[in-house]
Amino acid sequence: MNINFTQKFEDKTNQLIVTVLFLDSDNKLICKNETLSDDDKVALEKGGKETSRFKSGCTATQLWYVAGKKEDENAIRKTCAFFYKTSKKYSYANAVLDFGTNESGIENLRLAQIVSDSLFMSDYKYDVFKKDDSVKLENVTICLDIPANQAAAIVEKNAVIAKGVNLVRDMVNAPANIMTIDKFEETAKNACRECGLQVNVLDKKTLTEKGMNLLLAVGQAGIQEPRMLEISYHGAEDEKTNFIVGKGIVFDAGGMNLKTGTGLNDMKTDMAGAATALGIIITAASLKLKCNITVLLPLAENAISSKSMHTGDVIVGYKKKSVEINNTDAEGRLILADAISYADEQNPELIIDIATLTGAALIALGSKITAGFFTDTTVKNKMMEAAQMTGEGLWELPLADDYRGYLKSDIADLSNISSPPREAGTITAALFLQSFVENAKWVHLDIAGPSFLDNAWNAYPAGATGAMLKTIIQYFETK
Ligand code: BES
Ligand code: ZN
Ligand code: ZN
Repeated sequence: MNINFTQKFEDKTNQLIVTVLFLDSDNKLICKNETLSDDDKVALEKGGKETSRFKSGCTATQLWYVAGKKEDENAIRKTCAFFYKTSKKYSYANAVLDFGTNESGIENLRLAQIVSDSLFMSDYKYDVFKKDDSVKLENVTICLDIPANQAAAIVEKNAVIAKGVNLVRDMVNAPANIMTIDKFEETAKNACRECGLQVNVLDKKTLTEKGMNLLLAVGQAGIQEPRMLEISYHGAEDEKTNFIVGKGIVFDAGGMNLKTGTGLNDMKTDMAGAATALGIIITAASLKLKCNITVLLPLAENAISSKSMHTGDVIVGYKKKSVEINNTDAEGRLILADAISYADEQNPELIIDIATLTGAALIALGSKITAGFFTDTTVKNKMMEAAQMTGEGLWELPLADDYRGYLKSDIADLSNISSPPREAGTITAALFLQSFVENAKWVHLDIAGPSFLDNAWNAYPAGATGAMLKTIIQYFETK
């Protein structure tokens, strides 16, 4: 999809024009130099979102769309989704998004950023197994007054970020019979080759030598052997590295604590954290960000067979802490524990882990807000600001000391689930992980909700979202 910014658009046939209107604080339409009839205006003010008719002297279809009140960035994102869907619905390959004199109350450059990001986010479909024959929206003209070089830079950067997000979406949307552990490794190697990064594979033998027994235990019943991918990007001299650890369960059946009914739905997406961490390092390298990043991607399948972990098993992982497995379905924290311990040992600047960790996060914050845990206030504030900039939902939950005792085991250092069960599941999972961080500053992002949408939201079509990739890139850009 080509995106161009101009001040005035050309009148062409076979072109859709969507003119975006806003309401002032009294819900009156802000409408300058438009040929809208009074009746149309009244209808739009009364809550009609759109009206269309041929504009005189213009051969294309023109449609007026009320984005909503001024100064609402999500209204712009929704407008872009509407614009994209409408052009598809009426099979336009060329379309104009006309902001006129920009009455949005949002500054031109910021508006350009949100619009180009949203259009790229809209322009995605997982079409590997079901072909999409609809007309592709190829050329988008956005009427907004910004200097050509700045417009080009905004579009170029958002295109790179969208490529990263779409890599994550493709991997997460792929079914588990396709996105196996081998396939994940191959996909990572191909993507890394393109931007000059190397993938180091810690295979089963290496994991055994290193004592990464928690990762090995989770993966011991999987069709393919568990492993850990390690990828480093060096973009800054004399700076410590930032580790990003991503949960890579290619399918989470639950193990012996087998998931039941709808609990099994969408469990192909349980590698979203690992895919996102991969997308982040690819994007950081493509944008040549001035920072150092190492990603660790523990990959395993949490399967059920006679080889699965039993409940009651005690496993000593990389950090030599013993863990009693009281629920085999709480596997994400186990594979992350080994990877986080390994990262913590290497004197990093920061460890960020990203994981579809708990169903409780989806219950607490829903599918639009990531649960975030932070041990450093400066990092937290920057991450929160970054999320504001990208429009991704992020909310802090507490690393509550009062709940640490919930993870006690009678026969091991830790239990992998909390008691009483069901209380504060997202927090106790975070506390479990925190006990493997001894030295580093740490951020834990539970993306169980936002990584996959059942219904479209803002500019995101239903399905995998690549949630938090943009926010973490924004964090490293501005840190
Ligand atoms: N992968 C799941 C969490 C999940 C649930 C992600 C729904 C996305 C949507 C995780 O491994 C899991 O099963 N967690 C358990 C933990 C429990 C056994 C303490 C859960 O959330 O029920
Ligand atoms: Zn699980
Ligand atoms: Zn899981």
